[in-house]
This record gives sequence, structure tokens and C-alpha cells, in this order.
Amino acid sequence: MQLTLLISCSLCAFLNLGLAADARSNKPAVVMVPGAFHSPEVFGKVTRQLAQADYEFLDAVALPSVGHLVGRQADTNAVKSVLYKHLNAGRDVVLVGNSYGCTVIGEAVNGAPRYSASSASPVATDSVGRGRIISLIYLAGYIPTIQEVEHPASKPDIHDVSPALFNYHDDTGKVTADGDPTLPPQKAFYNLLPPREADYWTGKLDFSSFDALNATATYIPYTGDFEVVYVVGSQDKSVTPEWAQAFIDQPGAKFTVEHLDADHISMLSKPKEVSGLIVKYSKNPYA
Ligand SMILES: *[C@@H]1O[C@H](CO)[C@@H](O)[C@H](O)[C@H]1NC(C)=O
Repeated sequence: MQLTLLISCSLCAFLNLGLAADARSNKPAVVMVPGAFHSPEVFGKVTRQLAQADYEFLDAVALPSVGHLVGRQADTNAVKSVLYKHLNAGRDVVLVGNSYGCTVIGEAVNGAPRYSASSASPVATDSVGRGRIISLIYLAGYIPTIQEVEHPASKPDIHDVSPALFNYHDDTGKVTADGDPTLPPQKAFYNLLPPREADYWTGKLDFSSFDALNATATYIPYTGDFEVVYVVGSQDKSVTPEWAQAFIDQPGAKFTVEHLDADHISMLSKPKEVSGLIVKYSKNPYA
């Protein structure tokens, strides 16, 4: 009798331990990528929220093209190195981009193992034991169109398709965020933050490299290969709701669309809501 009790108790402890370990590994790694001019610090609030929700692997990536004169490939490589660290360790991944960061995560996932029911092409066959990508979340995505990837010659120069705040210093190859005197970053990016906080984040902005911003994309992940969630900010002054809708309405685009009462940098103004969306799209619907 005593023996049975002992066995069932250790079995109990064993099961509990197993369950706890499972609960942890159920959370994917989250790889977060800021937009032009921004440092990964803008994901600090969201990172704290996700840590409280028991997410263990949280990486906010610094874009090499912010503060350095490098091309887009450097940005893509920086994201890929973090992404494959997790995939190769067997961890599933959710990628989160903000603005131009969505362009970068879209390039980085080209050829990566994925879960997808809608894709015509099969998932990578070498993915045994590796993690896969669950979803891409575009927070106010500033992204390439299907047209410009299919017909690169049709891609407009970025001078013609950028928010008014982009300030081009053509002699140096730098772009800064102070191009519109009527819409300084405090209003273009952080219009829902208290003024002092908006000033604080404006002071942290750096230049972006023109070559990285003006490069032509080589891949579109949102036509069925991946689950891609476009999050529209209803108070976004940079990628306005109308502009976001034009991306969403492209023929052939297959987005899941979410709306937040947010400005352009929703990770700072609406961290709980953004974390909630990351949790929502952390669940693999095809498992
Ligand atoms: C920017 O991109 C456009 C279109 O791809 C290209 O024609 C143009 O030469 C680029 N601008 C610069 C200054 O490199």
C-alpha cells in the first residue's frame, strides 16, 4: 500500500514536471523587427508583456541600416541569423515587423520552413526536427507590392512612395525622419503618447540608409505561403488606414486583417493590444 502510494506520487511529480516543460515549449520564439530610424528598444514594453505571458525566447533585432550606410541585404541577414537560431534549435517562430521592418521580415522568410494549408508548394522537406514559422505580423507594414516584385522595372523610386516625413540627404545616402515640418515624428509616429514620451522617443531616432529603403524586394510572403496578419492603426499618420487598405486590397494578397486604435508605433502606444495579437497568432492552426 505504502509502495503504491509512493509510486503514484512520484508518477504525479513526474507528470507535473512534464506538463510544466510542455507549457513552456508551447510558446514560440518571437522575433521583432523595428522600422526605419528606430532602435529595437521600441519593443521593450511588448517584450515585458510577453515575458509575463511565459514567452521565453524574445528577440528584438537591431537593423544594421539604422545608423549605418548599408544595403537591405544586411538587414535581411541580421533577421535571418536570429530566425535560424530558433528554427535550428527546433523552436517555432512568430515574426513581428513594424513599418519597414515588415519588408525585412518578408525577405528573411523566403524559403524558410512554414506551416501552411493554403500553399500550393509543399513545406520544406528538410524540416524534420526544426522549428517552423507560425505567422508574420505586420504592424503598419510599409511593404513591397506584388506588382513590383513580379515586375521589378515597375518599382517606383522611394522618393515617390514614402511618407512625407522622409527627409532625403542625397549627398550622404542618409534618410532622416524630419522631412515634414507640419508633421514632426512626435505627430507622425507617436501621436498617441504623452508629449514627454513622444519627445523622448523622437530624440532616439537615427538616420536610415537610403540604399536599404530603396532596394527592390525579391519575395512576397503574403500570397499564400505564410500566414500574414496585417494590423491597421486607425490613428496612424505615416502609413494611414487608406494606404494600409491599398496594400490589403491588392489582387492576390491573402492577409488576415486586424484593426487597432493605434498610431504608427503601436508597440509603444498599445503594448497590451499588440502583445494580445502576438499571443493570438502564436497558435499553429495546422498542428
Ligand atoms: C531607387 O530605386 C529605383 C527603382 O528601383 C531606381 O530606379 C533608382 O535608381 C534608385 N535610386 C537610387 C538613387 O539608387
